[in-house]
Amino acid sequence: MTEGQEASSEEVSESQIAVHWREEKYFFPPAKFIAQANAADPDIFEQFSEENFPECFRAYADLLSWDKYWHTTLDTSEAPFWKWFVGGKLNASYNCVDRHLATKGNKAAIIWVPEPESADPVAITYTELHRRVNEFAALLRDFCGVKTGDRVTLHMPMVPELPVAMLACARLGVIHSQVFGGFSGSACGGRIADSGSTILVTMDGYYRSGELIDHKVKADEAVEAARKEGAEVDKVLVWRRHAGEYASQTPMVEGRDFFVDEVLSDYRGQVVEPVSMPAEAPLFLMYTSGTTGRPKGCQHSTGGYMAYVTGTSKFYQDIHPDDTYWCMADIGWITGHSYIVYGPLSLGTTSVVYEGTPNYPDAGRPWRIAERLGVNIFHTSPTAIRMLRKVGPDEPKKYNYRFKHMTTVGEAIEPEVWRWYHEAVGKGEAVIVDTWWQTETGGFLGTTLPALGPMKPGSCGPMALGIYAVIYDEDGNVVEAGSGKAGNICIRNPWPGVFETVWGQPERFVDTYYKKYCKNPDSKDWHDWPYFAGDGAVQAADGYFRILGRVDDVINVAGHRLGTKELESSCLSVEEVAEAAAVPVVDDVRGRAVEMYISLKPGFEASKDIEAKITKAIETDIGKIARPKNIWIVPDMPKTRSGKIMRRVIASISNFTDVGDITTLANPEIVDGIRQQVRSTKEARGDAPRELTEEEKAEIKNFGTE
Ligand code: PRX
Repeated sequence: MTEGQEASSEEVSESQIAVHWREEKYFFPPAKFIAQANAADPDIFEQFSEENFPECFRAYADLLSWDKYWHTTLDTSEAPFWKWFVGGKLNASYNCVDRHLATKGNKAAIIWVPEPESADPVAITYTELHRRVNEFAALLRDFCGVKTGDRVTLHMPMVPELPVAMLACARLGVIHSQVFGGFSGSACGGRIADSGSTILVTMDGYYRSGELIDHKVKADEAVEAARKEGAEVDKVLVWRRHAGEYASQTPMVEGRDFFVDEVLSDYRGQVVEPVSMPAEAPLFLMYTSGTTGRPKGCQHSTGGYMAYVTGTSKFYQDIHPDDTYWCMADIGWITGHSYIVYGPLSLGTTSVVYEGTPNYPDAGRPWRIAERLGVNIFHTSPTAIRMLRKVGPDEPKKYNYRFKHMTTVGEAIEPEVWRWYHEAVGKGEAVIVDTWWQTETGGFLGTTLPALGPMKPGSCGPMALGIYAVIYDEDGNVVEAGSGKAGNICIRNPWPGVFETVWGQPERFVDTYYKKYCKNPDSKDWHDWPYFAGDGAVQAADGYFRILGRVDDVINVAGHRLGTKELESSCLSVEEVAEAAAVPVVDDVRGRAVEMYISLKPGFEASKDIEAKITKAIETDIGKIARPKNIWIVPDMPKTRSGKIMRRVIASISNFTDVGDITTLANPEIVDGIRQQVRSTKEARGDAPRELTEEEKAEIKNFGTE
């Protein structure tokens, strides 16, 4: 054991912290909602009880159209690489498009809302979607030569061409890997190399906060970054935001870059047979941050994933074919994959895709969109809710829309913010589901069933149907519901939406998610392999879970996971930087923001210029979302005697909380100076953090302790 570990084990561990919070009162779903809900019969709990596992998930799989029905619901023979619906064959694109043509061909599959308000929304019917998906699939197959099992990287903004590209890949059995459009070219390049794709699909530009942003420039950076990692991109397919006009300053590279609209003219009217894929064939990769620098390509399956997102969209989003459903997330995140594209389209509903920022040109925009399109199901994140509440608390009442159902996802929501969402946005009549889940889990884990479970602000609720959760302490003892103690939330059983592996890193898959509480590494019995989610949680006596945040070195900024190692290695690429440490600071809009602590190599002096270089490095390597709120250049980092940077000490300084015991540090004398520097600067700027809650204090106190 290193000294660092010794020092941290003296700390109170997460599981020993008694959590104090006021029990919130329940809110009950309105009768009108219950009367029309997809899941309104409490017998459903029995149907999904543990005795009926895994066969209970047949109900989800039966919502799909299978080319060949499966013979084994759950195969555990290669635990923990679970296989669902084995023997079954299907195509995801067929399920999201073709099967609706006969009955819903003229219905809008997607309504796309461009950011400029002067442009009208564009409705794309299922028939039109079918045409576009087929033509693009033909182009991918015949122009790019991609085959079933190949990977194609997409780096697309929020335009209908993104779901078209995803569904075209799915039609061919090609694995898509969409990288969030806001990520930098370099981050995209790293993901291209990791996935081994040779085709990049991008767009010349898109609108964000009123500006037409040059996006193609990132494709050139991505190709360069991939090349540095030994991966060659053969073709870059560039969609144009405005037909026939090029929105980018960057030249097209002869022989490599192609305008999609030009090439597509050769594929007009082509129809591509959907390739019948085995249930366990990968549908897509979605990269996410972890504790080490290399991002993890979470591999999601075709059959299990499609069954899970379709089932949960039906029961938890309460989607009926006639609803107009709007999830304001970005398709570049898992929320968008599961609950803008695959789940809603599989159910044949109308899914709204909005290009821009929620408060552009003003805080009334989302509510005008909802009013105009008749949106009745709304889905967003606490960060967006906090922001809309801050900039336009009275806006929703000016617009004549009615939501029957609303979702919050991505971070814990404060009860105060929840109540505004319920009262102001939902006009007191919408049910709310607070859905806790992860990139890795494919779909919801923790949530109430909207017609059957009362809502409790700040708690996601019990687990979704067929998900059996447990909270363990560090030693694997069960932390009982109602004990007031927090611990590590785990899921005891596999479920169809769980990712299959980390692309190219199977050991990392087992180590990160299954090793911690595995009862027997040779076991083929799922009971021995609890899934470790990496979140702290506490369970109230009524069974409701409250999620307390990450227990690993991940900072959740506005619902986006940023790995401390990724941030730090980016800073270390700046010549003057000797050491870097990233810590979270509580932020009233984004939940958490990042602050960087930096020490410089000998001979360099702190300067604005170095700070600017660091910010630039982070924006280039990761993207603007990771831009630090503050950069503190300090004479030295607080360290253990073995040289480990004590992130919890600097995290406490940033948040103005107690630094705790620092006597075990190698250099305790530096702490006061750093505190002074940070405090005086923040106070002078009027940027001192508010008083933290007990749970927030516990998170900061434990940050970076292993
Ligand atoms: O810490 C939890 C938090 O977000 C993490 C997952 O992030 P990501 O993979 O980017 O997926 C976000 C969208 C599913 C979780 O480990 N988280 C997500 N939803 C909630 C949440 N924390 C509290 N309450 C939630 N509803």
